[in-house]
Amino acid sequence: MIGQWLQRLFRRTHRPAKPAIVITPAPPTPAGNDATDAVDDPLALFLPFQIRPLESADLGELLGVFREAIQISAADQYDQQQRDAWSRAQSHESLISALSEGEAVVAEWDDALVGFAHRVNGYINMVFVHPDASRVGIATLLYQHLEDSARVEGITELNAHASLTAHDFFHFMGFTSEGQEDAERDGVRLPRHHMRKSLV
Ligand SMILES: CC(C)(COP(=O)(O)OP(=O)(O)OC[C@H]1O[C@@H](n2cnc3c(N)ncnc32)[C@H](O)[C@@H]1OP(=O)(O)O)[C@@H](O)C(=O)NCCC(=O)NCCS
Repeated sequence: MIGQWLQRLFRRTHRPAKPAIVITPAPPTPAGNDATDAVDDPLALFLPFQIRPLESADLGELLGVFREAIQISAADQYDQQQRDAWSRAQSHESLISALSEGEAVVAEWDDALVGFAHRVNGYINMVFVHPDASRVGIATLLYQHLEDSARVEGITELNAHASLTAHDFFHFMGFTSEGQEDAERDGVRLPRHHMRKSLV
């Protein structure tokens, strides 16, 4: 497992300037929240990024990650009109409001926020990774943190509405598609998959 992660990290070349720094241990999970702590992850010391709970100081960077992920990473699956409508669907305020319930985790790389994920009960509501940090396993670790905490809470099934861009990622995480459907944002059609994963 560790070998796989190291292979994935070191075969990436699009962030060559980032040193394999030792990670500052993540702060403990807030009292009352049983989420698995990134510090407990034996891989954490090998990774150049840190996965930790969302803090209020992160909120200013979230919208940029959200919009860049849509505009760049989703460009092969959605046209400009679709990406603009999707991107406009969240404002700074609506993101803060959405993330105020449930559990949110972020990925930090060299003091920059490069990804975040959000779960409300059995629903994976958001997974967004900045395109400069894609395909090094950040979404995997963000998601894994949320799945672990869902298991601790006794949740037996996870659902998600996966963008066409994220379908293969969710499939990689063990989800299966229950079918494609259309979401609508600002009058624009956005195809997506309803995906489900049993935790039992
Ligand atoms: C989908 C997204 C979250 C993936 O983030 P990521 O950090 O690059 O994903 P990971 O590196 O953890 O990928 C893990 C595995 O998922 C699969 N995967 C991830 N992105 C993929 C893609 N674009 N195409 C095909 N497979 C993909 C691969 O199997 C990958 O393993 P590999 O890199 O060894 O092949 C990111 O591309 C993103 O933010 N996309 C735009 C926004 C979006 O659609 N968010 C989801 C909303 S529902």
